[in-house]
Amino acid sequence: MSNYHIKHLEEYFQVYRKSVENPEMFWEEIAEEHFLWRKKWNNVLSWDFTKPEVKWFEGAKLNITENCIDRHLVTKGDKTAILFEPNNPEEPAQKITYKELHKQVNKFANVLKSKGIEKGDRVCIYLPMIPELAISVLACARIGAIHSVVFAGFSSNALATRINDSECKMVITSDGSYRGAKTIDLKGIVDEALESCTCVDNVLVVKRINSAIAMKEGRDVWLTPLLDEVSSECEAEIMDAEDPLFILYTSGSTGKPKGMLHTTAGYMVYTAYTFKNVFQYTEDDIYWCTADIGWITGHSYIVYGPLANGATTVMFEGVPSYPDFGRFWEIVEKHKINQFYTAPTAIRALAKEGLGYVESHDLSSLKILGTVGEPINEEAWHWYDDNIGKRKSPIVDTWWQTETGGIMITPIPFSTPTKPTYATLPFPGIQPVLMDAEGNEIKGNQVEGRLSIKFPWPSMARTIWGNHQRYKDTYFSAFENKYFTGDGAFRDEVGYYRITGRVDDVIIVSGHNLGTAPIEDAINEHPAVAESAIVGFPHNIKGNALYGYVILKDTGESRNHDNLRKEINQIITEQVGPIAKLDKIQFTKGLPKTRSGKIMRRILRKIAANDLSNLGDTSTLLNPEVVQGIIDEALLEVK
Ligand code: WT7
Repeated sequence: MSNYHIKHLEEYFQVYRKSVENPEMFWEEIAEEHFLWRKKWNNVLSWDFTKPEVKWFEGAKLNITENCIDRHLVTKGDKTAILFEPNNPEEPAQKITYKELHKQVNKFANVLKSKGIEKGDRVCIYLPMIPELAISVLACARIGAIHSVVFAGFSSNALATRINDSECKMVITSDGSYRGAKTIDLKGIVDEALESCTCVDNVLVVKRINSAIAMKEGRDVWLTPLLDEVSSECEAEIMDAEDPLFILYTSGSTGKPKGMLHTTAGYMVYTAYTFKNVFQYTEDDIYWCTADIGWITGHSYIVYGPLANGATTVMFEGVPSYPDFGRFWEIVEKHKINQFYTAPTAIRALAKEGLGYVESHDLSSLKILGTVGEPINEEAWHWYDDNIGKRKSPIVDTWWQTETGGIMITPIPFSTPTKPTYATLPFPGIQPVLMDAEGNEIKGNQVEGRLSIKFPWPSMARTIWGNHQRYKDTYFSAFENKYFTGDGAFRDEVGYYRITGRVDDVIIVSGHNLGTAPIEDAINEHPAVAESAIVGFPHNIKGNALYGYVILKDTGESRNHDNLRKEINQIITEQVGPIAKLDKIQFTKGLPKTRSGKIMRRILRKIAANDLSNLGDTSTLLNPEVVQGIIDEALLEVK
């Protein structure tokens, strides 16, 4: 018998020990007892980090939607699977039972088939947080098509890059979306993106805001009439354990976004098992993760993990500030939320608005609180603990990544004593190590190093779509035989981990992972710009904000700087999306470079943070003289 549901600290240690002493046996027991397989595996795990190649449950056959939907029909067909809370609080919430979800996913899957989508085809989903987003994801999985969800806040340019990279045959979008008091023309953004894509045959359009949009003859089709034409039964495609399930793009420190590829069986087993334990889900709980399904958090902990456990998962279409800053707490009260999972940036933004919005709501249903996406500072942690959890609900600070597929370092509520700002202990099956710059493992406690993982876990990404070499270079080349996360971490006296932040050029803004390269490329498209470099600097709500150093061409020198700032942010909005706008722009004469021509961002980061005490060694710079100039400019005119 596996200890599927860990209930106290001693049990955690016992389960953890088993998971590292005999990983194959450990995962095999979990897989056998808690999932529906069409055929069992021949081999639990084979791996070689030098290639790198990892295979879990090889030989097994399954369909993840049978695990997330069909198998619950007999025992909980009338239970709410998805509870949809619309943007507008006046619009009624919608409860979709497992039976209803089954029907809708099957119909949607039949529509995909009728439009020629087959196993292995890539389908891009660009939708707001409406039920059709979850349904279309599951419909793809039903027929073995590979979904690539693109967050509906990305620009047409960013969307086109992602559609082209994985050669999607179809885009699923809506006539528009609601975001607080605004509406957004999603279909218009798709139309613009498709001007530079030749791979897309059809655009399937969901009606949400009833706006008059242009439909391109022969390419664009409305979803609703097609749903009426198809059967509500769609046989699930039988997939191999290692068949691709989805691609999800994440930013790298350089180059274009990386299409992380996740496969079927391991991802299912790991997201289901982590969901059960990290949120201690019990049968009648109402669970709410406020993320968007456009990020990995939504894939793993709104859709797959909760549904694989037969849970009720809430989907919220709106924003925390509309119609006012009490919206989250109103929803907690209205739906009697038991587990609430959000981002530190949201906590900080809501804390700033004062307790009035919190105190007017009954939050007594809450049992467990979670955070994800970036380090949580001590002040925000205490605010959350005192005012939302009333010091009764444990906070799970969950560290993980798009690449890891599921939660890796986290407290287990009621087992692991929490500690502010600490993600605490590895989840069963996860073997973290800290490495020094020379590639040696740093043993012992009270040490800091580069966080790596020395053994495979079931939900790890298997490759970068179309670029296995880049997968190897990015994650498996820094340290021999280890997966390198890109994060730094501190291990305290009892072995708890505290994530200290990225050690590469990725910047986490409001919990969103932004690479420097696409943003710098956008800035450089401005006709007056010669060169640019962006870094993160501390921001009390967003965690980090972006600071741009921009060198102007001679011809740009005379231009009004405030106008230039606006234009630069406009280009970024168009090319990447509004989340990548710069908070501060400094026009500068030079950038510090190494002899090999690489920008020394370490120095720029210090200047941006106004931390001039120790700029480190500048002697290896090609042009050390520019540094004082940049410091002087920073004091004069930066907005
Ligand atoms: C990066 C991954 C995992 C879903 C959302 C982000 C940072 C994530 C934490 C945490 C400190 C965290 C890391 C990581 N991060 N969770 N609990 N404490 N940092 O996914 O976009 O792939 O970003 O987010 O730096 O590497 P992502």
